[in-house]
Amino acid sequence: MKIMALGDPHGSQKIYQVDLSKADLVLIPGDIGRADELRKYYREYYLTGKVTLSREEVIEAYKRSIDSAKSILLYVSSNSPQTFLVTGNADEFKKGAQRHGWSFPTLGEICRDFPNVKVIDYQYVNHGGLRIAGLPNHFDFSRISRHLLPRMDSLIEEAEREKRRAVDFLDTIREKPVDILLSHDPPFCGEYKGKNPGLKVDMIDSRMSLGNHHDRHAGSLIIREYLLSSESWPKTLVCGHIHEGKGIYEVSGVEIINCGSEGEFVEFELPC
Ligand SMILES: [Fe+2]
Repeated sequence: MKIMALGDPHGSQKIYQVDLSKADLVLIPGDIGRADELRKYYREYYLTGKVTLSREEVIEAYKRSIDSAKSILLYVSSNSPQTFLVTGNADEFKKGAQRHGWSFPTLGEICRDFPNVKVIDYQYVNHGGLRIAGLPNHFDFSRISRHLLPRMDSLIEEAEREKRRAVDFLDTIREKPVDILLSHDPPFCGEYKGKNPGLKVDMIDSRMSLGNHHDRHAGSLIIREYLLSSESWPKTLVCGHIHEGKGIYEVSGVEIINCGSEGEFVEFELPC
């Protein structure tokens, strides 16, 4: 099966130049819509606690991000037979807006208008013999300095909930054959318990850091533990999130593909 994995699109026009016609399957590890304005809002909300955008500007930013996501979804839906994706941190419209009592749809709800595009968060699917598991963005606070952020209590609560859900899902697939784990986050690949693969797959540009990531690795420890504890599976992990970590790596016998962002993509083929 010919697969095209698109890096976090973020609403970029460059996506429309990607020729999807040869792909049997398109995978997108999340962050579909544009995120520049919402990123600014979230950084202020979490890091300083003082939001400079007005209420109306934040609502407009949500709407623009959702509209740009719909344009990307229309393109992949019109040009490929099947697309699977997971929710990235920039796609959490509903969760983010709920904090203010606003109502926006989830990415899954938006995708219902595109019949051959499916969000597979916490799902295990068999597509033409290819077994794919989907893991959306999840907070992993274990590598972030805790004292810096003003909204720490609510963040820790949220992080604990998301961590539990991610761990529980990975437990359910631990014994199952998984050809591809489609994950928004890459695995944590810095030094940990004396092991240091030293891979750049999750190496963050410090200017992009939300809080202080130790040694600038910002991947998920939950995924790393899963990779190290699952002897045969998955064969391939497709991820995004840390755009500057684009490339193909190997951790514990698993091929890790960080697809990059905004028009970048990786093509590969798997037997099924
Ligand atoms: Fe992204």
